Amino acid sequence: MHEVIIKIIPDSIEERGLVDRWVQDHQRDAWRKQAKSSGYRARSAFKLKQIQDRHKIIKVDDSVLDVGCHPGGWSQVAVELVGENGKVVGIDLQACVPVEGANLLVGDITEKSSQDRVLDSIDTEVIDVVISDISPNITGKWDIDQAVSLMLVAEVFDFALPILKYGGHFVTKLFQGSGVEELIALVKPHFQTIKRFSPMASRNSSSEVYLICKFHTPKRGPDWMITPAFEKSLEHREGGLKPADDIEPAKSTFTVRRKSTPKE
Ligand SMILES: C[S@@+](CC[C@H](N)C(=O)[O-])C[C@H]1O[C@@H](n2cnc3c(N)ncnc32)[C@H](O)[C@@H]1O
Repeated sequence: MHEVIIKIIPDSIEERGLVDRWVQDHQRDAWRKQAKSSGYRARSAFKLKQIQDRHKIIKVDDSVLDVGCHPGGWSQVAVELVGENGKVVGIDLQACVPVEGANLLVGDITEKSSQDRVLDSIDTEVIDVVISDISPNITGKWDIDQAVSLMLVAEVFDFALPILKYGGHFVTKLFQGSGVEELIALVKPHFQTIKRFSPMASRNSSSEVYLICKFHTPKRGPDWMITPAFEKSLEHREGGLKPADDIEPAKSTFTVRRKSTPKE
């Protein structure tokens, strides 16, 4: 009798790369299928669900701001979590198909006019939770993409910290690499705890991590803003923001517009 031997262990680095890519594509497809069958618009919905399971960031009746909300997967999950008396406001450069129970705006979160519309629709003085899955436009140049991503995150903090209630929570996506430690160091004084979390649903994207900032402790004084201090800390480095050698580039199909003029 003949034995059929199936080769499953890759011999070379190239083969291993192909196997890894195959596994990643399959995992991504599996999350996508699961999202479709559960009625979520994006597999990213499972990332928020896994963040919630582990870190319990959103409660019933909370008011939530969802930054970079298109196509609406996180908003769908947030609406379920806050319940009928909660509130979900989202904003994105791209228009979303409406999510029942959420108010999803179109605009650039770094622009004052969009920020004003967010404030108008929040309609309370403070919010309980900020969830930000914001992703920059992928130019393919990793150092630029990662730097833009961190600056966007810093700007979201600057907009949202003043309206985040005492004890509130803030979750944001980060692309790992150069500048992350500086950013975390600047955010730390604003929260009691800060943890990095990698949900199962995003483990095929090795550069993506979520920063879970819990229990807002508002920082007073003139130097509370993250963006100016972040820019300064990067200027002090030789060559500014550089990519880490060991981080794989992020791949995304999302489109992002950056404003061309500096923020006031
Ligand atoms: C990964 S997607 C968000 C997916 C979303 N969490 C979901 O579950 O459906 C990232 C989003 O960030 C948005 N984005 C990027 N820059 C932005 C900006 N300056 N203002 C608002 N949204 C932005 C992009 O348009 C994109 O839709």
